[in-house]
Amino acid sequence: MDKITISEIYKYAGKEVKLGAWLANKRSSGKIAFLQLRDGTGFIQGVVVKSEVKEEIFQLAKSITQESSLYVTGQVTEDERSPLGYELQVTGIEVIHQAVDYPITPKEHGTEFLMDHRHLWLRSRRQHSVMKIRNEIIRATYEFFNQNGFTKVDPPILTGSAPEGTTELFHTKYFDEDAFLSQSGQLYMEAAAMALGKVFSFGPTFRAEKSKTRRHLIEFWMIEPEMAFYDFEDNLKVQEEYVSHIVQSVLDNCPIELKTLGRDTDKLAKIKAPFPRISYDDAIKLLHEKGFDDITWGDDFGAPHETSIAESFDKPVFITHYPKSLKPFYMQPAEDRDDVVLCADLIAPEGYGEIIGGSQRVHDYDMLKEQIEKHNLPAEAYKWYLELRQYGSVPHSGFGLGLERTVAWISGVEHVRETIPFPRLLNRLYP
Ligand code: 4AD
Ligand code: MG
Repeated sequence: MDKITISEIYKYAGKEVKLGAWLANKRSSGKIAFLQLRDGTGFIQGVVVKSEVKEEIFQLAKSITQESSLYVTGQVTEDERSPLGYELQVTGIEVIHQAVDYPITPKEHGTEFLMDHRHLWLRSRRQHSVMKIRNEIIRATYEFFNQNGFTKVDPPILTGSAPEGTTELFHTKYFDEDAFLSQSGQLYMEAAAMALGKVFSFGPTFRAEKSKTRRHLIEFWMIEPEMAFYDFEDNLKVQEEYVSHIVQSVLDNCPIELKTLGRDTDKLAKIKAPFPRISYDDAIKLLHEKGFDDITWGDDFGAPHETSIAESFDKPVFITHYPKSLKPFYMQPAEDRDDVVLCADLIAPEGYGEIIGGSQRVHDYDMLKEQIEKHNLPAEAYKWYLELRQYGSVPHSGFGLGLERTVAWISGVEHVRETIPFPRLLNRLYP
């Protein structure tokens, strides 16, 4: 008899198999027991019929506690009603470990309780689906960038510089020096692009943000591509093609997970390049038309503004050419006016907010030097970055996609805390 996983069950219709599994849930009557089994690769219903198994097996089925670990043997049968399309007619059960009272029961629990039990909550069908979708997005990311001639480069986590401003840095000692946890690998990726042309990174980033919202994590994962000889327009093209690719990959490869989460897949099917664009100037006008009277040119957008702008489109929308005063020091000003920069934020539909921030970078030595001084950045820490503009400097562009916000949007889950295995939030380091 083959020992198999639930993910390969479709190859075994009509056959007798053995599964290692946990008991996710159970219903039973006098004559029949339904075991919801999970093995990490999926979920399947095991059916134990009293009249068809030894009495001791039926009694065992009725007494197993939630989350006990088991070896289950049985015959695979097709079943149209199950999401998987198959059931297991159980013939034998061997208990590996009988679990003590499991804290997460099928009844509703509060968020704080679930967060305190994140190490167990991850086992639920919903969390399993979100993690599978996260994994698919990561897989499709590597696929996209490898297919398009990018080289993966790993920037450091311990750094001496701060691309996104100095207010949200995690500080640590680095022997006798001061260091920060990386808030973005971008500056290093710019150096890498001058060595390797088209590069991308995927790694953790850290922001000591005091924000407690559904979109903010203290530790989150970012994908940061950077391309030599790419201007602002070229950059947007890569972004819309990349985002389309990951959405379509999830649709193709995670149908069960999307169904489990109740995701409206018609909305996702529309996510294909090209994406609409709106300038910051026009976005301000649009907001005024929609009744946001208090926002004026030069103000940053908050979540309600982003959501309202996104509502006018059924695809992600690029908001371009923000005021220079709102954005970091490294962004290239527009050719025809000095008060806006060649940047774009990509805003996801359905209220999920900004998933990408990107721009063309300043490539002129004097202009960058002036910007570093204007922003009062320590010259010593940025010496190497400025030097990149002294040896064959070229126009170049890049962006950062926040993985967790992207997972939240594609999965249709409300809060980013469910999109990373162990979220680091304001006031939460446990578990
Ligand atoms: O817009 P941000 O700050 O851009 C950068 O860091 C650039 N240096 C990236 C680059 O051009 N290489 O962050 C990029 C994205 C945001 O659009 C958002 O999706 C995500 O990172 N992000 C967060 N996600 C979760 N929690 C937070 N606190 C986040 N801050 C940013
Ligand atoms: Mg941003």
